[in-house]
Formats: sequence, C-alpha cells, structure tokens
Amino acid sequence: MKVFSPFVSLPGLRDEFPVLGAAAYLNAGTDGPLPARAAHAAERELERELGEGRSQAHFERRRELTDALRRAYAAALGAQPADVALTTCTSEGIAQVIGGLELGPGDEILTSDEEHPGLLGALSAARELRGVSVREVPLGALASAVRPHTRLVACSHVGWVSGSYAPAELAQLEIPVLLDGAQGVGAVHVDVHALGCDAYAGAGQKWLCGPDGTGMLYVSPALRERLAVERRGYANLADPNDGLDARVHPDARRFDTFSLGAETTACALASVEVLSSAGWPAVHEHARTLAARLARMLAEQGRKPAPRGETTLVSFPSPDPPAERAKLAEHGVIVRNIPGRPWLRASVGAWNDEADLARLVETLDR
Ligand SMILES: Cc1ncc(COP(=O)(O)O)c(C=O)c1O
Repeated sequence: MKVFSPFVSLPGLRDEFPVLGAAAYLNAGTDGPLPARAAHAAERELERELGEGRSQAHFERRRELTDALRRAYAAALGAQPADVALTTCTSEGIAQVIGGLELGPGDEILTSDEEHPGLLGALSAARELRGVSVREVPLGALASAVRPHTRLVACSHVGWVSGSYAPAELAQLEIPVLLDGAQGVGAVHVDVHALGCDAYAGAGQKWLCGPDGTGMLYVSPALRERLAVERRGYANLADPNDGLDARVHPDARRFDTFSLGAETTACALASVEVLSSAGWPAVHEHARTLAARLARMLAEQGRKPAPRGETTLVSFPSPDPPAERAKLAEHGVIVRNIPGRPWLRASVGAWNDEADLARLVETLDR
C-alpha cells in the first residue's frame, strides 16, 4: 500500500499542472487545472493533422482515441465500457436521459432543491415541452418523497452548492435514478453499481482535468432499452450505410455525441492518465483529507463552512462573495462564488497542497 502524508502533494502529481506554479488553484468544480502532458497530447494530434491531412488514417486514429477514452472513463465510473457514452459535458448526458424517457402529463420527476442549471435546464424542458411535473425536495429527503406517479429521481451525486452527497437510500428505489456526477467523478470514489443508479452523467473538464467539451454518460443496460434515441447520426449508428434502416449501436455508443476531435480526445485521455497513474484511491483520499482540513481552518478563522459531505467542495460565508472572489484572484487564489448564496466555494483536488490552503486563508484575513 502506498503511504503518503495527507498534507503534502502526491509524489509528482503537483508538477504536472503548470497553473499551480502561478496560483492556489481551487476551482476544479468549475474547470480543473490542465496537466501539461494533456496539452502536449492535443498539440501532437494537431501536428499530425497538419502534416498528414485528415483521411482514413485520421478517422482510424480518432476511433482508437475514443475507444481508449471510453475505457478510461468507464474505469473512473466502475462501469463496463459498453455502458458508457462519450458526451461533450454533463448537461448533454442528463438531457439525453430525461428526454429519452419520453415522459408526459401525469408523470412526475423528483429532484432536489439544490440542483445546478445543467440538470434544471433538462427538467424545465420536460415540464414546458412535455407537461411533466417536477417536484423539488431537500436532497436528503429524496428517497422517502417518491410517490406512485414518480417516474424518475434526478439529482446530484455531489451537490455543487455545498458538497453534500445524495442519500445512499436512493440505491433501494425501484424507479430509475439519474445522478448528476459533475462534482462526483474524479473527485470522489464512484462505483455506479454500488450507487445503485441507472444513469450517471459526468464531466471531463472538471475533476478529471480534461479539456472543455468532454464528458460521459453511464446508462445501465436495462435503462438503455427504455430510452428513445431521437438524435441519430453517423457516430451513433451501428451501420450508417444502411440508409433509413440504420439502427443505433446496441450498446451505450448510441448516446455518443456526434463529433469529438482527435485533439480533444487525446487531451482528455492524457489528463485522466495523469490522475489514474497516481492511483484513484490516493487521489480521492488526498483531496478529501485536504478539503476536510480546509473546512477546519476556515471554521477556526470564523468562516464556518456550509454543511457538507466528505467531498472535495468547501463553501464558506463571505460578506461580499463577488468582491472577495476578485480580491482573492488578485492575490493568486482562484475560487468561485455561488449565485444566490452568501458563499464562496473552494474546490480542493489531489494536486493541491497545504500551502494552497494557507494562501487562501491568509488572503481572506487581509
Ligand atoms: C452539479 C453540476 N451539474 C452540472 C454542471 C454542468 O456541467 P457541464 O458543464 O459539464 O454540463 C455543473 C457545472 O458546474 C455542476 O456543478
């Protein structure tokens, strides 16, 4: 077993991220820091395209890269690659599941009262365009709030506002559960089977430190068969040359986004590899421990964080969040404010160290 002190960097990991030389970067809940290796992987693909053009070999290369990325994402989710689609972001996967259920008047979707627009957008579309009713309850109350006409529970795995976990009891429900994993995958341990969810949508650009325009969607084989796939094109058809008789892929590739560039895919793959080669258990443990430490440091400073789970997000009160966020940024500390709440939110990753936390707390004090 690897032994490490929770208050120093994981060996070598911090050096992978150039931005950490310039700032206490505590903003992976928005977009993770990009590893240099990932940027170089993208550059290499573009160089190849410059030199070789983009003909059959290019499309074979894209296929090779998407297969590898699907395997890497599946490993991060504890899923089979055949059950994982490649998307461009969390919101895209969420929209595919909610739209694909083809719910209508008389059906209800149950959600929590602390969801992100990435989920709320798809819920409002179901309500406005299909007449589905949407009910919001506190995250912790979801499992007991299901009613006979509830067709889906859709909520965060880890809430973006304060970093609370979805209740474990959701695994016992008989109706489908869709988890928004934007603040989950890469940040905390994810095993879609242990979570008992039927669908899990995640981001490549946040806790997996990939480029913008990457994401994943796990769908269980049982739910897959129940979801209509309205969006069809070359990329998600089993045999696109069958014309009007073409059928979608038999596995989760039916939910794939239509086009992912080689440079984006290579960049995403390299960033996941940087993290996975440090070891997922160590990555999760280091981030979780540092985040808990930051929560204690803030409480000692009179900035007691909002109630949170053992996750990587720490939201804490600020007298003027946008102004304080700007002040912190001037001093090289990158966090965000949460709209509509009197809080700043720090995202603590395995790449951070105790000096980053100290820099945040000291700058707050100035
Ligand atoms: C909980 C949650 N869901 C969804 C999203 C949207 O993510 P994406 O840009 O990957 O669609 C975010 C982004 O911050 C989020 O925090």
